[in-house]
Amino acid sequence: MKKRGIILMLTGMLALGTLVGCGNKNDEGTATSGEPQKIKIGATIYKYDDSFMSYVRRAIEKQTEGKAELIMNDSQNDQAKQLEQIDTMIAKGVNVLAINLVNPKAAPSVIEKAKKEDIPVIFFNKEPEKSAMDSYDKCWYVGTESKESGVLQGKLMADDWQKNKEKWDKNKDGKLQYVLIKGEPGHPDAEARTKHSIEEVKNAGIEVEELAIDTGMWDAGKATEKMDAWISKYGDNIEMVVCNNDGMALGALASLEKAGYLKDDSKYVPIYGVDAIPEVLDKIKEGKIAGTVLNDAKNQGKALVELSVNVASGKDLLENTEWKLDDKKAVRVPYVGINKENITVGEDAYK
Ligand code: GAL
Ligand code: CA
Repeated sequence: MKKRGIILMLTGMLALGTLVGCGNKNDEGTATSGEPQKIKIGATIYKYDDSFMSYVRRAIEKQTEGKAELIMNDSQNDQAKQLEQIDTMIAKGVNVLAINLVNPKAAPSVIEKAKKEDIPVIFFNKEPEKSAMDSYDKCWYVGTESKESGVLQGKLMADDWQKNKEKWDKNKDGKLQYVLIKGEPGHPDAEARTKHSIEEVKNAGIEVEELAIDTGMWDAGKATEKMDAWISKYGDNIEMVVCNNDGMALGALASLEKAGYLKDDSKYVPIYGVDAIPEVLDKIKEGKIAGTVLNDAKNQGKALVELSVNVASGKDLLENTEWKLDDKKAVRVPYVGINKENITVGEDAYK
């Protein structure tokens, strides 16, 4: 780096009131000044008590080791609490905010706080609306393309149905009678998975009939309650259980097993989830869950930390990374459909 560049950089950093980057090397490989100041990442998880997010949290913690100081908060599913946590982190001088919103619609409040202090924000897992993303040049998103998980889940369901129609079409009416347990209403993943999974089955030329649909709020316990009620109402008429995530697929499985299902071939009901958490991969191996879609916690955590460290140290967002931004300022980690045949793909991702 030329001398003028260094001066400009230092002035810029002083103006920001932060010394981050002082440990950067110049072209000759010597430190520009003093001890490196650690980057501070201020992060929130919408609630620790969410099976998939617990894996994302672990990935973030692991990725941050040795690279930055991490302040991690459990927002306990309370948006007001999360906004307070953000105030506290700003007061503590974080260089970047990594935010898993409680309510995807609350992005403007977070952006307002960050913008005032010129702190970059990287949202993850719950995608804000485009208008919010466009309102601040220093905000980005790390996550997935929600629609893709629905399409992949629907493909698994359609393929399996075609192969097993003889057995799975219990009432022999040629139609697939399903129940669907939805994630949090209004959550982009929940809405897209609900729509596209079923659409994909229909696109494969399969006639469907929805017996029941309701939200289980991503939660196993709530899914068990729903499933208990549906089993007593519809019993053997249920030919498939579609769940927006794996936590709820496990909840549905618990309910079905309690009612005597899945103990042998004649009592089989196919269940599908999304996430590919290790508990569900085990159930797929046992033949108790038919399929899931890998929601790659490890790479989402990796992308989030790499981008956070880059922007916090004044580098280009994507410098030295494998990630690309799409037209919605988002880095999207791909989903992969998982069943018994490619189970190792899921296992490798959660190692
Ligand atoms: C989804 C995931 C769910 C839940 C949700 C929380 O991507 O599939 O299991 O963790 O995020 O926002
Ligand atoms: Ca049928």
